[in-house]
Amino acid sequence: MNIAIVGLGYVGAPLAVALAPHFSVVGYDVDAARVQELREGCDRTREIEPGALASCTARWTTEPACITRSDVVIVTVPTPIDEFRVPDLGAVRAATETIGSYMRRGTIVVYESTVYPGVTQDICVPLLEQGSGLTYPQDFSVGYSPERINPGDRVHTLTTTTKIVAGDTPEVRDTLARIYGAITRIYAAPTIKVAEAAKVLENTQRDINIALMNELSQIFCRLGIDTTDVIDAARSKWNFMDFRPGLVGGHCISVDPYYLSHKAASHGIVADMILSARHINESMPAFVTEQLLSRLMQRKLLQPGTVITILGVTFKENVKDVRNSGVIPIHRQLSRLDLTVQLIDPLADADALRHDEGLHIIPLSEARPADAIVLAVPHADFVEQGWPLIERLARPGQEVVVADIKAVLPRESRPRHVVHWRP
Ligand SMILES: NC(=O)c1ccc[n+]([C@@H]2O[C@H](COP(=O)([O-])OP(=O)(O)OC[C@H]3O[C@@H](n4cnc5c(N)ncnc54)[C@H](O)[C@@H]3O)[C@@H](O)[C@H]2O)c1
Repeated sequence: MNIAIVGLGYVGAPLAVALAPHFSVVGYDVDAARVQELREGCDRTREIEPGALASCTARWTTEPACITRSDVVIVTVPTPIDEFRVPDLGAVRAATETIGSYMRRGTIVVYESTVYPGVTQDICVPLLEQGSGLTYPQDFSVGYSPERINPGDRVHTLTTTTKIVAGDTPEVRDTLARIYGAITRIYAAPTIKVAEAAKVLENTQRDINIALMNELSQIFCRLGIDTTDVIDAARSKWNFMDFRPGLVGGHCISVDPYYLSHKAASHGIVADMILSARHINESMPAFVTEQLLSRLMQRKLLQPGTVITILGVTFKENVKDVRNSGVIPIHRQLSRLDLTVQLIDPLADADALRHDEGLHIIPLSEARPADAIVLAVPHADFVEQGWPLIERLARPGQEVVVADIKAVLPRESRPRHVVHWRP
C-alpha cells in the first residue's frame, strides 16, 4: 500500500512517521523549508521524537507527482478561520485541486483536516472530479478520519487515542480501518458526515464547558469569591466536571466551533450557545487585563513606565505553538497604554511570533524588574520554579501584582509583598 500525506505540520508529519513502519509512505508539503527540515531529521513542532524522525523511512517531498503513485492520499492541511471568523477552506481546496490533478483511478482520498459536516463529499469530491476528469464514485473513493492529537500531551498521543474512520462505502471504511488499525485503536463511524460532525462536536463541547467556567469566574470575581476555592468545593461531588477557567486559543478549540456555527447558519440556525461560548472565551484576555490594571491602580503602581512581565505566550502549556494564543491580545491591550510589556517564553515559536504578530520574546536574564507579572502559560519550568521565579522577576522592595491565570501558584506560600489574583 502506497500512502501519500499532504500537509506535514503538527498532524501530518507525526502521522507519516507512525505509518511509515507499516506502509510505503511519502509526505508532501508546499513548504520547502518544512520538507528540508524533516529530511534533516528536525521537527520544529516537537511532536515527533527526534530518534523516530531520524530512523523514519517516509520520503519527504515538495513534488506532487508522488500522489500519482499513491493508493491512499491523506489530507492534513490547515483549516483556520478568516478575519470575519468564517471558515477558510483555502488550503483544503488548494490541496484537493493538487490531488485532483495527480491522482489516478482507484485512489482513496482521506481528509483529516477538521471541517464542518459535508465538506468532504459536497466540496472536495466535485473538486477532485474536476481536477482529475474522473467520475465519482465509480473511479475514486473518499474517507474521513479526524485527528485527535493533543499537542504537548505525551500520554494521549496518535497511537494511544482511538481514531474515528469513515468511508463512502463499507469497503473503503474497512481499508481505512486496516491502515489506521496498524497504528492505533479505531472506531468505524457509519458515515463520513458523522465522522466530520464528531470532531467539531468534541471541540465545541470543550469550548462551551470552559466558557461556562470563564463566565462563572467573572461572576465570582465581582462577588469577591475565589473561583479555585469554589471549584475545589464543587469537585467533592461525584459527577462534577472539572473544567477550569482560562484563555482558549490554538488551532482547534478556538476555531472549530465557528465551522459548526457557519454550517448551522446555512440551514437557518443561529447557533446561540456555541457563539456565546466563543464570545465569553474571547472576552477573557480583556477580563484578565482589566483585573490586572485595576489592582495596579489600587496599589498606585500604574504610571507611565510601569513594567509588566508576561510569562508564557503559547496557546497552552508545554507547547511551541502560538497560533490564536489568548496571551497575544493581553499583550496588545497592555501595550496600548504607556507601559513596558516584556514577554518571556523559552518554548514559544519566536520566529512565528515575530513574523505573524510583530512581538518579541526576551530571555529571562534580560528582564527588567517588574511591577506586575502575568503567569499566562504554566509551562512546567515556570511551575517548578514557582514563587522564587516571581520574586526574581519582581521589582525589589515594593508590592508586585501577580495574575496567575491558570491558578498554579500555591496560595499558602505566597510571599507577603505579592498581590495574587487568579481568575
Ligand atoms: N494541531 C493540532 O493539534 C490538531 C489537532 C487535531 C486536528 N487538527 C487539524 O488538523 C489540520 C492540520 O492542522 P496542523 O496543526 O497540522 O496544521 P499546520 O499548519 O501545522 O500544518 C499544515 C501543513 O500543511 C501545509 N500545506 C498548506 N497548504 C498545502 C497544500 N495546498 N498542499 C500541501 N501542503 C499544504 C503547510 O505548509 C503546513 O506544513 C487542521 O484542520 C487542524 O484543525 C490539528
